[in-house]
Amino acid sequence: MQSYKPEDVVKEKRDVHPSIFGVIREKREIEDKMLKVKHRIGIYSAKGGVGKTTTAINIAYALSSMGFKVGLLDADIDCPNVTLFLGINERIKEYPLKPIEYKGVKVLSSAMLVEDPSKPIIWRGPMIAKMVSDFLKETEWGELDYLIIDLPPGTSDAPLSIMQLLSLTGFIIVTTPQHIAAVNAIRSGTMIKKFNIALLGVVENMSDGEPKGAREVAEELGCDILGVIKKSDKISMLSDQGKIPVLEDEEAKEWFMNIAKKIAEEH
Ligand SMILES: Nc1ncnc2c1ncn2[C@@H]1O[C@H](COP(=O)(O)OP(=O)(O)O)[C@@H](O)[C@H]1O
Ligand SMILES: [Mg+2]
Repeated sequence: MQSYKPEDVVKEKRDVHPSIFGVIREKREIEDKMLKVKHRIGIYSAKGGVGKTTTAINIAYALSSMGFKVGLLDADIDCPNVTLFLGINERIKEYPLKPIEYKGVKVLSSAMLVEDPSKPIIWRGPMIAKMVSDFLKETEWGELDYLIIDLPPGTSDAPLSIMQLLSLTGFIIVTTPQHIAAVNAIRSGTMIKKFNIALLGVVENMSDGEPKGAREVAEELGCDILGVIKKSDKISMLSDQGKIPVLEDEEAKEWFMNIAKKIAEEH
């Protein structure tokens, strides 16, 4: 743990806005909490509905089944879906927040903190940023090899707060085959590059087998194609039933395990 205060580091620089001290302090508090979390990987796309949550969950369980210690953070604060996908109904009632261990993965979602998760969580930007920061500061993750973070769509408050506060070690971008999804994925990648966070590669979801959107993204951003997940009724059906495709379906297992192996080899 550092013994100096953020103010000491920049006290000579009068041009620094005072609010920056708060950000630096929060970032340091979060880093202290995350010391035992080796890899922190954000799953991201500016576009909704492309399969970020599906990808995050299945990669988390794929890595877990390979023997790694894994956490899964639902950072889609105002529209949390991870507990729905996993069929988790438990609630967390006390601080510091302890993720709920579900089938070997430590899971945390804002849905675990509200009385009725079916009601919309309507928060304005600053509250979302505060929630993200509390989440990251107050959670005892313990020792983890991988923390997989399901990020919200967009390029504004919530994903930006995460990128600012949490020293992510890498990002995975999700796209579908469509050109419009690829354009949004490129937008996401360009934003990530501004934060100097490693782009591990792109996943094409709901694919027909041959990467199209992912190829566009990989060429534009100069990154790897990590893998292709085909459009599959099994994936949507199992997810709707609160089951985890990578643990239940042979095809899904093959697709997601290939991606997880690449992550484990290179990251
Ligand atoms: N490969 C796939 N094949 C079929 N349905 C999928 C696939 N991936 C995701 N889905 C379904 O598409 C919907 C949106 O996926 P989701 O992971 O929630 O996207 P996002 O998190 O990007 O909004 C969900 O109902 C999910 O079950
Ligand atoms: Mg989602």
